[in-house]
Amino acid sequence: MIETRRDHRIAILSIDMPGRAVNVLTPELAKELGAAFDAAVADEGVDGIVVTSGKPSFVAGADLAQMAAFASSAIKPSAAMAMIALYGDLFRRIETCGKPVVAAAPGTALGGGLELMLACHHRIVADVPGARFGLPEVKLGLLPGAGGTQRLARLIGIAASLPWLTQGEEISAAAMLTAGIAHALVPADALLSAACAALREGRVDPVAAWDKRGFRLPGGDVYAPANAAVLAAANGNLHVATRGNYPAPLAILRCLYEGTSLPIDKALRLEQKYFVALVRGRVAQNMIRTLFFARQAADKLSRRPAVVSTSRVNRLGVLGAGLMGAGIAQVSALAGIDVVLVDQDQAIAERARDGIAKALEADSKKGRLSAAARDAALQRITTAVGSQAFAGCDLVIEAVLENLDVKRQVISAVEAHVGESTLIASNTSALPIDDMAGACARAENFIGLHFFSPVPRMALVEVIVGTATSAQTLARSLDYVRQIRKTPIVVNDGCGFYTTRCVDAYVREGIRLLADGVDPALIENAGIALGMPLGPLALGDEVGLDVVHHTSHFFRSREQGAWADDRHHHVNAVLNGLMAIGRRGRKTRMGFYAYPEGPSRHLDRDSISAHAMPSDVQPPLHDIRERLLYAQLIEAARCWVDGVIDDPAEADLGAILGWAFPSYLGGPLSAIDDIGLRDFIDRCDALTKKLGARFQAPGALREAAAGSFRFHGL
Ligand code: NAI
Repeated sequence: MIETRRDHRIAILSIDMPGRAVNVLTPELAKELGAAFDAAVADEGVDGIVVTSGKPSFVAGADLAQMAAFASSAIKPSAAMAMIALYGDLFRRIETCGKPVVAAAPGTALGGGLELMLACHHRIVADVPGARFGLPEVKLGLLPGAGGTQRLARLIGIAASLPWLTQGEEISAAAMLTAGIAHALVPADALLSAACAALREGRVDPVAAWDKRGFRLPGGDVYAPANAAVLAAANGNLHVATRGNYPAPLAILRCLYEGTSLPIDKALRLEQKYFVALVRGRVAQNMIRTLFFARQAADKLSRRPAVVSTSRVNRLGVLGAGLMGAGIAQVSALAGIDVVLVDQDQAIAERARDGIAKALEADSKKGRLSAAARDAALQRITTAVGSQAFAGCDLVIEAVLENLDVKRQVISAVEAHVGESTLIASNTSALPIDDMAGACARAENFIGLHFFSPVPRMALVEVIVGTATSAQTLARSLDYVRQIRKTPIVVNDGCGFYTTRCVDAYVREGIRLLADGVDPALIENAGIALGMPLGPLALGDEVGLDVVHHTSHFFRSREQGAWADDRHHHVNAVLNGLMAIGRRGRKTRMGFYAYPEGPSRHLDRDSISAHAMPSDVQPPLHDIRERLLYAQLIEAARCWVDGVIDDPAEADLGAILGWAFPSYLGGPLSAIDDIGLRDFIDRCDALTKKLGARFQAPGALREAAAGSFRFHGL
């Protein structure tokens, strides 16, 4: 794992974990690195030490697979402290070993990898494009627990280290130099010679600045006026941004506030204490499970039938050059695929291509896209009218309007013009795949590929497998999703599949609250407090009130036996009332909100109150928040019982990436696990009694609760 070699009086320790593409911190690595260090320190023939990597990157961070163990109730907090101290103590030993130590990073160093670099006395980075450096722990509900918060603040100052730590910012190799974290940026092939030269020329002080008497933090301590102002502002901003749902950013602030006033050894212990509290909490465990492990598995196409050989889409057809069709064309062209964009009218297709050109231009101006990549992507997109343009396509995705008859008609026309092996996919947001597959002679080639708006920004594609869809079609569709660098989840067919059902449940509960006399501002605030980026009414406006209404008639109608109150309830009356006066949401600049030119949107209380008057007595925020949460949880649970979703990890991932379900909860099924299935069902029963049958827990869930069922392991 550690290869030690000598360059005269310098020991070069190279980390190279066998069987892994990148180095990650594990207890075994810590042990071996510690032993190699001790040997180099004890060796009288060694004057200085270089730590580097045998891989293209340095160290990618801690092995997250270890993190679940920290949270186990079988492990006492003191044992968890010892587990994290393994890394912290090793880094401190390196820092105080008495010999000068240089970190030489050939590429990316994240999390624990950067913390190791910070513990070295001198840092040199190779000038390679794509290398990233940062402390992204906060994005998984953690903080850097091996000295990152303390050493970074002591190196670049409290104010400068804040965005790194609380936002998990990642920067390039060149930016490491300008930020004052790296001492040198050198060509990749000069990395080791530069590291050895720094040691040989005596440019590396073996004592860290913070281990010297009289050390002062650059930019002053927490009481310096500038720092005090920055910390106070950050405290306020983070409370607002996290709504009390995410403990990590505030724990990081505490580490900075309390730790930077302490001697370094005490400060490092304090940081470990805060780390252990986070890693043993539900939030970090939920975020790691879904955002790291479930995402990694989905990105590696864990659901792909392995027997089918890997494929590529070279030519893609997109039918319907509206909002979604244009987005799909754009991301596909950017991934190097030739795209033919077809609409019923050439002018519409041309307009869509012009829109894509503008979007690419904007990305290029912001520095996100090179001019060459922009031009190449645009050149790959051609426009046409008529299905004959799809000849030679590997895949055709239809994104025409949401109407079953129209979709069946266009799908049948497309099939008549493409080869036997061409896949046809629908981007429908709710229509069952089987209903459309009936229009195909080769139904085995048909699948649902549900993208999210705006397509260039949204990472998820919900892949819907119909009854007739073949394994070959699923595998090739997943290959395409990977090709365009999106993350797939695989679900089974049904009205609204998975994500649309759950989004609808959230929006609908918001409208129902309105109809129950709850103040619209309170409803929206409860949604935000829950951790949703938009309140349910704002989200309804984004989706379009006509679409919400259509969903209601289309697939909620099947439930009207059990939910008969829905029909008589004011929900549809509210929707009908608003639509009758042309308010269909953001696209008409009027919905629950008004969207005036210039000023930002605001709730249109007068228009709303004409259809739903707020009552004099308002329920507590907690009750509203609970209704908005349970509406989503129970719909996800129904999807599981109905067999629409069969992989809890994917279901949770789809929720966070698809409709921005709050990540601190880990996804709806993780949230049910955290509540405890029995308690969840008890609460559903209470809500059913009070509010109606829509909160009724499905029978199969009740049966599962009789055992000690959980969707996920602990
Ligand atoms: P849109 O109204 O922006 O675009 C539809 C396009 O299809 C229009 O350009 C129209 O001219 C064209 N079209 C209609 N009939 C056609 C035909 N027979 N032949 C060729 N072109 C035809 O609609 P949008 O929003 O892009 O939605 C398209 C599909 O994507 C729908 O099924 C929708 O449910 C689904 N979807 C929409 C999302 C959204 O947020 N808007 C999200 C996910 C899916």
